[in-house]
Amino acid sequence: MASTFTGTQVYQNDFDPKIYLDTYYGAENGVFIKDKYLEFILRKLHAAFTTGGVKGNSLIDIGPGPAIYQELSACEAFDEITAADFTDRNREYLERWRRGEPGLFDWTPALKFVCDLEGHSGKLAEKEEKLRKTLKRVVKCDVTKSNPLDPLVLPKVDCVLTVGCLECACKDEEAYGNVIRNLSSLLKVGGHLIIGSIMGSTIFRCGSKQFSLINLNSTFLKKVMTETGFIIEDLEVLSRDYDKAMFDICNHTSGIFILARKIKDV
Ligand SMILES: C[S@@+](CC[C@H](N)C(=O)[O-])C[C@H]1O[C@@H](n2cnc3c(N)ncnc32)[C@H](O)[C@@H]1O
Repeated sequence: MASTFTGTQVYQNDFDPKIYLDTYYGAENGVFIKDKYLEFILRKLHAAFTTGGVKGNSLIDIGPGPAIYQELSACEAFDEITAADFTDRNREYLERWRRGEPGLFDWTPALKFVCDLEGHSGKLAEKEEKLRKTLKRVVKCDVTKSNPLDPLVLPKVDCVLTVGCLECACKDEEAYGNVIRNLSSLLKVGGHLIIGSIMGSTIFRCGSKQFSLINLNSTFLKKVMTETGFIIEDLEVLSRDYDKAMFDICNHTSGIFILARKIKDV
């Protein structure tokens, strides 16, 4: 399925946070629930932030959209998290979540899954509170800029985390390499870059709107990480079974998790 690149302005105009969360993370029929991608990412993040030894003072979560699941383990390993996304509506949605407004997406299953992994079953409210305290700010970001947080300049951080964003933000492989360099500029040498992504896809739908995806594969991702000054500490691929109705919404064939350490500036 061919697709024309949908850049940042399309996200700003057409990306609906509520429809997105319901479509992809809805408890019954969410795309990433049915293909087990959410569980895969939560399990890998838990491992990275515990046995994987990824910890420190500061972490930036790039392109969270309206989602917080990817920060549930990170908030135990970092003193402060900055969430950085392009669209106004996504940042507003996250600010509403930080304020504890009622009527937002219900993350209970993800909270329960992570609390169980951590051996704190039942402590869902405490976990939510911990993340609310650790998520210090929500800022604008464009990963295609050499300083993605421009005009904000932050001290370099110990970890950059990005799940489900770069495949949306990059129009081709060359752009992807540049984006990894831009994200590396936010990171201390010795710090970690964590990428969760879907692969083999060209489009995803959010309600009546369609967005483009760069068709990624693990060979390219390994190469680009090495060429941009990282060593890969963990990489795992989750393949996806075919299901026509689900593939019509998003046509990825697998998911990938990469934990990489920055060894030099490039
Ligand atoms: C499919 S959503 C992913 C949301 C969430 N991370 C998840 O795992 O479900 C893609 C996100 O990438 C963001 N995005 C797209 N292009 C971007 C860019 N150039 N810079 C920063 N964020 C971008 C969008 O605003 C959107 O929130």
